[in-house]
Amino acid sequence: MSFENSNLTIFAYMSKLAQTTGAINLSQGFPDFPIDPKLIDGVVEAMRQGYNQYAPMPGLPALRNVLAERHATDYGCQYDPETEITITPGATQAIQSVIASVVRHGDEVVLFAPAYDCYAPMVEASGGVVKWVNLNPEDFSVPHDALSDAVGEKTRLIIINNPHNPCGTVWSDANVQHLHQLRQRNDFFVLADEVYEKICFLPGGFSSFGGYEKLRSYTFLVYSFGKTFHATGWKVGYVMAPSELMLPLRKFYQFAVFSVNTPVQHGLAKYIPHADYAQIAKMYKDKQMHFAKIMAATDFKPLPTYGSYYQLYDYSAVSELDDISMAEWLTREKGVATIPISVFYPTRLEIKYLRFCFAKQNNVLEEAGKRLEK
Ligand SMILES: Cc1ncc(COP(=O)(O)O)c(C=O)c1O
Repeated sequence: MSFENSNLTIFAYMSKLAQTTGAINLSQGFPDFPIDPKLIDGVVEAMRQGYNQYAPMPGLPALRNVLAERHATDYGCQYDPETEITITPGATQAIQSVIASVVRHGDEVVLFAPAYDCYAPMVEASGGVVKWVNLNPEDFSVPHDALSDAVGEKTRLIIINNPHNPCGTVWSDANVQHLHQLRQRNDFFVLADEVYEKICFLPGGFSSFGGYEKLRSYTFLVYSFGKTFHATGWKVGYVMAPSELMLPLRKFYQFAVFSVNTPVQHGLAKYIPHADYAQIAKMYKDKQMHFAKIMAATDFKPLPTYGSYYQLYDYSAVSELDDISMAEWLTREKGVATIPISVFYPTRLEIKYLRFCFAKQNNVLEEAGKRLEK
């Protein structure tokens, strides 16, 4: 079976290949280390206390309250927990709810390539038409002119992933100003997928779109507890938006999902006020630097990363293979699974980068390094 005829997402395909070949899996974006036992205790306690029935549709009030407080403290933004925050089964479902609530047949949606793989199929399922803007190939920065050209009267939504998967780039202030200028010209919404908000390596930390008051009226913010607390299997996230945008979103959401796992919401509500986000960012920065040191012994060349738990490596000094073949070959022959990034483009590019997930235990990263050195 090859990726092309597998009918699987690249993540499912590479993880399956890693499993069947016994390779180290640095492909799919999930950590292999345990979550904080205090978080587990909170969830178990909630189950034992009998919180096992449906939660309110938009999410547990206690959880929405702590999230409103946290965003006010971290980014200086005010969201009403009653009407402007909705808990969802993972960021993926939040993204789908945003798209389903704003995109209608024939609407244009701007996506930056490479793009996280659920965006385009969801836009198309809502009848939208994707307008692709390729990030600048040399450093994956945002091309302002190409973005201006892509935005027009039919533009309904722009989806921005920040920090970016797979590139590890972070939006600059100049990008945000440019986006806002375009909004003066055309009337669109913005979906800011900020699932890696707490994994940002910039000295000043992460600047959420929520911190820009002028973007507020047209922006949806999307988050994932799975990414932040290394509990991807829990699939719990949330979306924040002004009440005028949240109302239609909830109309869709109440029938598509209705409500999210109650004891997990109780556990999170108890845990979040005491969560050590600085420690999370430091842990990932240490891992990123450790992995960079290991990889320095190989012929793979790193691209800069400023956020997320991914690092792109240029393998052009190692092989002539295209990136999908290279990822398959590395998995089968060297025992290390990665993600080729051409699959995140609408048409396959000749691009010699692979994405490595470094959210793994140090001994796993070290063993991967040894295999790649060969
Ligand atoms: C950019 C981005 N958005 C959304 C998601 C999905 O998050 P969740 O697992 O909470 O649905 C991921 C997961 O890898 C991601 O990388």
